[in-house]
Amino acid sequence: MADATHIFPVDFLWGTATAAHQVEGDNTNNDWYAWEQKGGGRVFEDQVSGKACKWWSGHAEKDIKRMADLNTNAHRLSIEWSRIEPEPGQWNHDAIDRYRAILTAMRDAGVQPMVTLHHFTNPIWVAEQGGWLNPEISTLFQRFVQKAVAEMADLCDVWCTINEPSVYAAKGFYDGSWPPGQANLGHYFQVMHNMAEAHAAAYHAIHELRPQARVGMAHHMVYWKPLRSANPLDRTVTHLLDGMFNGLFLDVIATGQWRPIIGKKGEIPQAKGTLDWIGLNYYQRWDAAFKLNALKALGITYSARPGAPKGPQSWGEFYPEGLLELIKRLHRQFNKPIYITENGVPDETDTIRPGFLLEHLQQVWKAIMHSIPVKGYYFWSLVDNFEWAEGLDPRYRFGLYGVDFKTQKRTLRNSGKLYKEIAKTNAISSDMARRYAPEVVERMFPGKVSPR
Ligand code: BGC
Repeated sequence: MADATHIFPVDFLWGTATAAHQVEGDNTNNDWYAWEQKGGGRVFEDQVSGKACKWWSGHAEKDIKRMADLNTNAHRLSIEWSRIEPEPGQWNHDAIDRYRAILTAMRDAGVQPMVTLHHFTNPIWVAEQGGWLNPEISTLFQRFVQKAVAEMADLCDVWCTINEPSVYAAKGFYDGSWPPGQANLGHYFQVMHNMAEAHAAAYHAIHELRPQARVGMAHHMVYWKPLRSANPLDRTVTHLLDGMFNGLFLDVIATGQWRPIIGKKGEIPQAKGTLDWIGLNYYQRWDAAFKLNALKALGITYSARPGAPKGPQSWGEFYPEGLLELIKRLHRQFNKPIYITENGVPDETDTIRPGFLLEHLQQVWKAIMHSIPVKGYYFWSLVDNFEWAEGLDPRYRFGLYGVDFKTQKRTLRNSGKLYKEIAKTNAISSDMARRYAPEVVERMFPGKVSPR
């Protein structure tokens, strides 16, 4: 008998999430493909996405069966711009048909799709025209969105315009570890600005075609804290990072005001109010500190708290409480339905994942108990996949199913078995914690669990 059970609302969406380039394979016409071909350590051990999880050549349907096996009723996937519009203004109808087949398979399996229209990759022709620095980019993106939505709207009601603008802008234009490999803070802000315009253009274009569609975007938020809470410099650095990374994009959607810390302030009035729902991608906490020896980066440093549970390399701290704090913040700012559009953990051995899942879901449940409308949770990820610059590095395996990339064999991890129980019972419980992650029992259900 469970000592405590947290029950979720009856219509709660239990989902998983993936992105086109990370699972499809044979994506050879986008800027990530070109980046992988360059080698030079851009991707871990110069690996390439190659066949990835072979979704394009048939495995999508097999993995959709797995979604149903897990009792999940939702999935967030992305569609690849470079497949649908391989050359400017030219449409590939075979690619559209393939996506229609994938979406149909999901619906037949009782899995409600959420389609993301931009998840980090761009057609090579877009990159050649200046990519997200091109002042015309929102017009180009809007044309693609209009076509894609017109062709697929009968199969999908929930659209996610752009995945994680601040991650995309930071990696591609500030730390330079992703294409186009630039390190220019001014460009970071320019890309964020252009993505806000593109998001707004997509929002309006989708609603023109489908007034009843529900349109939002997936925003990555880090739970930032000052390393030394009373230190004014650490507090300033934290404020800066939070503003640039978490706050800026949300602010322009909430107000129509464009207020970067660097560059010209202004307005994007058409962005105001362009969310029917907001998606939160949450992975980690970082503690920020000012350090003299980091003057090149304006003294800004951040890291996991010493001694805290953390991911590989500079991944940051696992901090479930941060999820509730960020949900509350989004609720205060927007008062719209919230989806957790990504949450997950790099953990090949599945040692941490079951407990991670339970502890984060407990925070989601608490938010719902505070009457915050969190409508669904999309775990990152269904299957191990191509993890961008980390490639297929075994330290960066995110799947509920492990994937052997030589044979394409999937193996259900313990966390997958747990998620299957959660989705089936629409609940998390101390009994599940005892069976799957004894290490979190006392933290999650203090004093409530009877001895075995
Ligand atoms: C991205 C995913 C990525 C995941 C894990 C998110 O920021 O949207 O594409 O695989 O994090 O790193």
